[in-house]
Parts: sequence; structure tokens; C-alpha cells
Amino acid sequence: MASSTSPLFPPIAILLLLLLLPPPAATQHDYYDALHKCILFFEGQRSGKLPPDQRLKWRHHSALHDGASIGIDLSGGYYDAGDNIKFGFPMAFTTTMLSWSIIDFWRNMGPELGNAVKAVKWGTDYLLKATSVPGVVFVQIGEPYSDHNCWERPEDMDTPRNVYKIDGSHPGSDVAGETAAALAAASIVFRSRDPSYSRLLLNRAISVFEFADRHRGEYSQSLRNAVCPFYCDVNGYQDELLWGAVWLHKASRMREYREYIFKNEVVLRAGDSINEFGWDNKHAGINVLISKEVLMGRAEYFTSFRQNADEFICSVLPGISHPQVQYSPGGLMFKNGGSNMQHVTSLSFLLLTYSKYLSHANKNVPCGSFSASPSMLRQLAKRQVDYILGDNPLAMSYMVGYGTRYPRRIHHRASSLPSVQAHPGRIGCKAGSRYFLSPNPNPNVLVGAVVGGPNVSDAFPDSRSFFEESEPTTYINAPLVGLLAYFSAHH
Ligand SMILES: *[C@@H]1O[C@H](CO)[C@@H](O)[C@H](O)[C@H]1NC(C)=O
Repeated sequence: MASSTSPLFPPIAILLLLLLLPPPAATQHDYYDALHKCILFFEGQRSGKLPPDQRLKWRHHSALHDGASIGIDLSGGYYDAGDNIKFGFPMAFTTTMLSWSIIDFWRNMGPELGNAVKAVKWGTDYLLKATSVPGVVFVQIGEPYSDHNCWERPEDMDTPRNVYKIDGSHPGSDVAGETAAALAAASIVFRSRDPSYSRLLLNRAISVFEFADRHRGEYSQSLRNAVCPFYCDVNGYQDELLWGAVWLHKASRMREYREYIFKNEVVLRAGDSINEFGWDNKHAGINVLISKEVLMGRAEYFTSFRQNADEFICSVLPGISHPQVQYSPGGLMFKNGGSNMQHVTSLSFLLLTYSKYLSHANKNVPCGSFSASPSMLRQLAKRQVDYILGDNPLAMSYMVGYGTRYPRRIHHRASSLPSVQAHPGRIGCKAGSRYFLSPNPNPNVLVGAVVGGPNVSDAFPDSRSFFEESEPTTYINAPLVGLLAYFSAHH
């Protein structure tokens, strides 16, 4: 690190260099293999009746009677993480990000494209069920406290499957806005592949968005005990309304959405450029997505969104502005609060998509006296992906089943308990505890699962009880699908 004292380099360039240069022992990664695994992971998270072409064989049908208590079929969809709850808010965000990955990077997916599209459809088939009653969105199935209190396979789970909903008198513009975004984004994915399904998705997105906008409020007020502290909307619903409108604008090209964005830009705080992007906070995603049109010269009236996106990017680049994203000594983006990899993959996804839009327009990002090129943004995103795949101080891949050294004791009920084939008898709520407490590796390898990852010192315990580090989630993997597709085609 002698060069960091050299007077020849300004400090900014030094910090960037340290993060962009690969570590000395870097290996060439098989990004296509990682892409394949990253998509396969979603089959392990499936709820409901599994189809004959299910590739991940140790999982089986589960939660077939979801919704029966209210006479509506709400089976299907995804478990969010290592438990057996279906949380609608992160499920919708996952579906939006899988769709965005395909919309921007389908050309780089090769034969994996079909599997990526199926992963979206597993989400949208469920979201269509969850929005089949006008003026209502079913936003969660399962009672989180009793679920979390058990260590049970989804296949024999027996905890209450409460159905939680929002409606006109119990609003939730956050979860409804995200659901509208997911349906609209997916309608683009299916536009040429299945036009009638695409129209169904778009029409539903339009009516769900109208409901979200007309009945404004946070679902964490309406459903506090069920959704907090799990997927409590801390950041407000304003961003999801804009996010929904942006995706509807992109999917429908109807004038009313352009006008909605234009009219509500300030009221709904598009300029809150917080250096964050995830299931709760969409501001950065809104600004990057709209900037594409600005950069392509199609929408001068949205110029302020590009300024917001630039500011956001500057806050992610190391050593440039304040406030600023933190990095671990090994070069991983880090945010407090657990499941750090969700931030790494989402922020890297925005770096990559924005760099693509900038390249097409031949533009840089102005950060004060510094100018960040599209290739610099791409390199930082690649550095993050490479860290995930094993270029890190522990030489550990944080994707299960990729490389030789990866997490073996992930916090995931189905992975850590014996499969139904291996152990056909029921394993009850507390009978599962001995598998949770076992020092042995999980019997079922949840191929492709990316876990929460190391702590701020690049240390990783590989222990089920450290769920912040060892639990995978669908919204860690969804943006990674786009990143891996891109790097599999450009390395
Ligand atoms: C990270 O984890 C390691 C090993 O468990 C521990 O020694 C260290 O204190 C942790 N660092 C922080 C900042 O929590």
C-alpha cells in the first residue's frame, strides 16, 4: 500500500484503484455456470404444487391449501428466504428485479433465458392470484412468529397460514405499488413470448396501481403486527408509487403515466437520492430507470432524474462524496442491518445498467471535479460479483454450490432438514431443532443460493444461527441474474 502515500495520485483515484483492481490471486470465473445456478436457486424457493419439469428434486409440493380459509386459491409463489412465509412485498420486488434483469440482459443469457423467464412466471402466476379480487391485494400468507418458532420443512409445515390483505380501508400503497411494478415489468418480458399473458399482466398492473394511488398509506400501519419487523415499510410508500408509475410508463407508453411521474416527481420525493436500493427503497432504481430515456434523448422533461441518478452513483463510488457507501477491507460494499449481499447485488445491478445507458449515450458521470466513466462503473460492479464468487480474503464463494469452498450450513429450513425422499416421516416443529443445532453440513445443497455474506471485517461464521450472514433471500439473487448474464458474455 505504499502508493497510497504517493503525491502523484489524488486520494480519489487511489481508493478507486484499490477497489477496482482484482486481488492478486484472482481466478477466472465461470459466470455462465454461476448464472445457471443463480436461476436454479429460485426452484428451491417455490411454494405450491411443483411441476414435472422441476429440476431441484429434493423439494416437494407444499402449502397447497394457502387461501383455502377464505375460499381463494393462493397457492404458489416463493418463500422469501430460509423460512416458510410468503411475504408479498419482497416477492413482488424479486419479480420486478428478475424482469429487469431479463429486459436489459436477455441477449446475454443464452440457453438460460428460458429458465429465467420461468422464474419470473412463478412469481407473476402467484401475484395474479393475489390481485384477483378488485380493490384487494393479498400481501402475506403465514404467521411469522409461529413460523419462525419452528424449524420445519415447507412440505410438512403445520403452522397457521393466516391470509393478510390490504383494501380500501386498510391501504398499502407500498406493497400494492411494488406489485403493480412487478406485473408491469413482467408484461414487458412476456410481450413477444406470450402476448395474451402479457396483456393480462399489464391490465392487472394498471388496476392495482390505480388502487395503490387512490388509497394511500403504508401497509405497516394497516398490518403492523404481521409485517413488522420482518418487511416493515420504513421508507414510506411514495417511492413505490413512482416506481409503479415508471414501470407502467415503460410497459404501456400511455401518456397518463408520463404525466403522473412529471406531476408527482417532487411530491413523491424522487430526489431523495439515498445510497440504497432494495425491497424497501426504490429511489435510486427510479432515477436510473428513467435516466435511460433521458440519455437516449427521448425525454428531456425528465432531466432532473438523471441528475439524481448521477448523485446516487457518486455516492456508491468509493472516496468521492458524502454520504457514501461503506466498503469492507476486502472491497465489498457494506451496509448495516443484516443480509448485506442484498445491497451488494442491487447496487451493483444499478451500476451496471447505468453504465450501459451511459455508454450508449457516450456520457460520463460528473462527481465534483472527478468524472466517472461507464467502464469504471462496470469494473466496480464486476469487482463486487467477483467478491461474491470467491475473490475475497477468505477465498470463499458466497454462492452455494459454486466453486469448492462455499457456505455449508445456511440458515434455510428445507436445505438443512433431510428431504422428504430421505426421510418420509413428518418432522414436527421442535423435532427440527436438532438439525438446526447440528454442526454437520446441510444435507440438501441449495445450489445457487447467495447468502447474506460476511460481516464488515470480511469474516463469515458459516453457522445457521448467524442468520444475518448465512440466510439466502430471493432478492439477493434476482439482480445477480442480470449481472451474471452480462459478465458471462463480456469477460
Ligand atoms: C466479524 O466476525 C468476526 C468473526 O466472527 C469477529 O471476530 C469480528 O469481531 C466481527 N467484526 C465485526 C465488526 O463485527
